Formats: sequence, C-alpha cells, structure tokens
Amino acid sequence: MNKGIFITFEGNDGSGKTTQIMLLLEYLKQKGIDVITLREPGGTDMGEKIRDILLDNRNKGMSPVAEMLLYAASRAQLVSTVIKPELARNKAVICDRFIDSSLAYQGIARGLGTENVWAVNKLAVDDCLPDITFFMDVDADTAMARREAKGEEADRIESEKMDFHRRVYSGYLELSRQDPRRIKRINVNRSPQEVFAEIRGYVDEFLEKAKG
Ligand code: TYD
Repeated sequence: MNKGIFITFEGNDGSGKTTQIMLLLEYLKQKGIDVITLREPGGTDMGEKIRDILLDNRNKGMSPVAEMLLYAASRAQLVSTVIKPELARNKAVICDRFIDSSLAYQGIARGLGTENVWAVNKLAVDDCLPDITFFMDVDADTAMARREAKGEEADRIESEKMDFHRRVYSGYLELSRQDPRRIKRINVNRSPQEVFAEIRGYVDEFLEKAKG
C-alpha cells in the first residue's frame, strides 16, 4: 500500500495522455496536494540516457529482450530514487507510462509474454504498483493518425508497423479486462473536459477512501 497516491497513464502512442496529465496536475495542486509528474522511460538522469538509446532510430537492431531490460532498468532507477521516496513523503506521483507499457509493448506486441515481463519487472517495481491506472482508450489507427497530424518525427517505437500498434492496443484492452479494479478504461472520443471529469471522479473517490 502506497502512502501517497500513485497514478499512471497508459495507452497507444498518440492517445492524448499529456493533456489529461496536465489537467490532473493542476487539479491536485488546486486541492493543495503536493504533486509531481514523471515520464517513462526517463524521469532520472540515468533514465533519460536509457530513453535516448531506446527511442533512437539508429538502434533498429535492438533485441526484444534487450529492449525489455532497458525499460526495466529505467523503471528500477525511477522507482527507487524518485517514486518510492516521494510516496513516502505523502506526495501524489503522476507517471506518463509505467509497468503496463512493458506488458503491452514488450510482453504482448513484441511477443515476449506477460509472465516474462512481470518476472523481470517484479525486481524493478519492488511492490510499488500504481493505485490507479488510466488507460486512454483510442484504437491504434486513430491514435497514429492523430500523432501523424502533429507532424513530429517518429521515434524507433513509433516507426513500428501498424500491426505492432494494433497488438499494443489489444494488449491494453486485455490488461484492463484482467485488472479492472486498478486499470480504468477511459473513452477518449470526447472533449478533453468530459474525459477529465471521469478521471477526476476516480481520483476523488480514491482520495475519499484513503481519508476514511
Ligand atoms: P514517448 O515519446 O514517451 O511516447 P508517448 O509520448 O506516446 O508516451 O515514448 C515512449 C515509447 O516507449 C512509447 O512508444 C512506448 C514505449 N514504451 C515501451 O515500449 N515499453 C515501456 O515499458 C515504456 C515505459 C514505454
């Protein structure tokens, strides 16, 4: 059980996590809650270097196992040096992606198997699981079209074939079915304000329960 509150956002590339993370950050601040936002891979000096290796288009030959281990290494550093200490100080921690990204991308889409990804990540996560995870539910094709509309250059993972991104999406659907208590599936085909109203509802509910 975490002392503060640990919230993660998940979904395909282009699923609109950033807007909701910013809205939640402002909302928690207004409530007087000490809050930090982080991203994965990254969030620490070492993690940002690992991120560069992972997303670099020159590393197209990376083996799936090496990829899984690098994501886990970045996570281990983030959990032990930032997330755990901040939660122990009763802070709210919002993280853009976490363990479920590894389960969906490496476990399911790359085909390494969710059991293997769990086995490796058990050490990295060290019992520090999110209290709430928001899965931004937008199918892979729509998400990719949105991402392309922004005109940013695709990184190594984003450059994967559409089939890969479709497997990521079905992976997330499966994960949210398996653990509906933690993973909240959020329909994002609505205005950002409507989406946020639902997210806020879950967060308020959790905070109320934690008080009592
Ligand atoms: P990022 O630019 O943060 O993607 P986004 O803005 O869509 O969140 O890049 C992170 C990429 O790494 C993204 O394509 C998902 C992928 N990823 C994994 O494959 N496994 C993981 O464990 C994590 C954390 C991310």
